[in-house]
Amino acid sequence: MKSVFFSRFFILLPWVLIVIIMIDIDSKRTIRAPAAGRSSRAQRAARTGAPGAGGTQNQSALPVIYAITPTYTRPVQKAELTRLSHAFRQVPRFHWIVVEDSTARTELVARFLARCGVPYTHLHVFTPRRFKRVGMPRATEQRNAALAWLRLHRSRRDAGVVFFADDDNTYSLELFGEMRSTRGVSVWPVGFVGGRAYERPLVTGGKVVGWYTGWRPDRPFATDMAGFAVNLQVILANPRAQFKRRGSQPGMQESDFLKQITKVTELEPKANNCTRVLVWHTRTEKPHLANEPKHRKDTVVIEV
Ligand code: UGA
Ligand code: MN
Repeated sequence: MKSVFFSRFFILLPWVLIVIIMIDIDSKRTIRAPAAGRSSRAQRAARTGAPGAGGTQNQSALPVIYAITPTYTRPVQKAELTRLSHAFRQVPRFHWIVVEDSTARTELVARFLARCGVPYTHLHVFTPRRFKRVGMPRATEQRNAALAWLRLHRSRRDAGVVFFADDDNTYSLELFGEMRSTRGVSVWPVGFVGGRAYERPLVTGGKVVGWYTGWRPDRPFATDMAGFAVNLQVILANPRAQFKRRGSQPGMQESDFLKQITKVTELEPKANNCTRVLVWHTRTEKPHLANEPKHRKDTVVIEV
């Protein structure tokens, strides 16, 4: 009797173990799947400064970040725009205003934008030849075209923050989380500018009291184009504020523009009271193309 019991027990035992293991594997799978989804959303939210839970519903309450990028045809253009798009596509509620310095929208930029995964507006305006000289400020007409577009297509109902994102800079995702809360005009440090490792607004008691800069500290707003953001409503409330050619020297455009819309005492310091560098004025080296043939030698047309 005992031996019959034991033989049945040992025949059944492996089957019982297999069933237990199967149940265990299955329950682990169902628990893991939603947990993984949550954590990646939370990680993304932490990186970009978006609220973690709630997803799209909460995000639609965020002001839209409008990044204005002037750009012009040159060998590195597509590489620059590609690098920017990889950062921008990770930022929720983002709208990229790309303004080409050209007589028409180019095929290259149009094709690139259509595939880049970032919501965008594609504009163009050509800089008159007489302004395309060394010592002249750059991208004045392009930034003004973007401001004109915003004034025409956005209204008092739209919550937004406007930022000037030149195509040769490097942007940390954290920067967008910082600028999102801009009520008037916000400021922060910029790396590799003014002949120094960084320039920054000096902050005391939460207010900007001066500028740490290696170049023209007499500028009322001694900051680079990448060092500030403006609430959309400030742009709309000051319809005549724009970048100036007349009387403006290179490096003075930022200051001349900010003078029209704010005061130093009203600036909102970001990036931990302007102690963290979250954007770099990297500037891209011109590629060496000495061996590039004058006329096409390849058998196919390759877009670079
Ligand atoms: C510095 C500042 O960072 C710029 O914001 C400022 O416009 C510029 O000086 C100036 O001198 O006005 P820098 O690196 O010398 O920048 O200038 P670029 O990056 O060559 O040009 C600024 C932006 O204008 C870029 O997005 C560039 O693509 C665009 N650009 C430049 C044009 O659209 N057309 C041009 O002919 C040259
Ligand atoms: Mn630049």
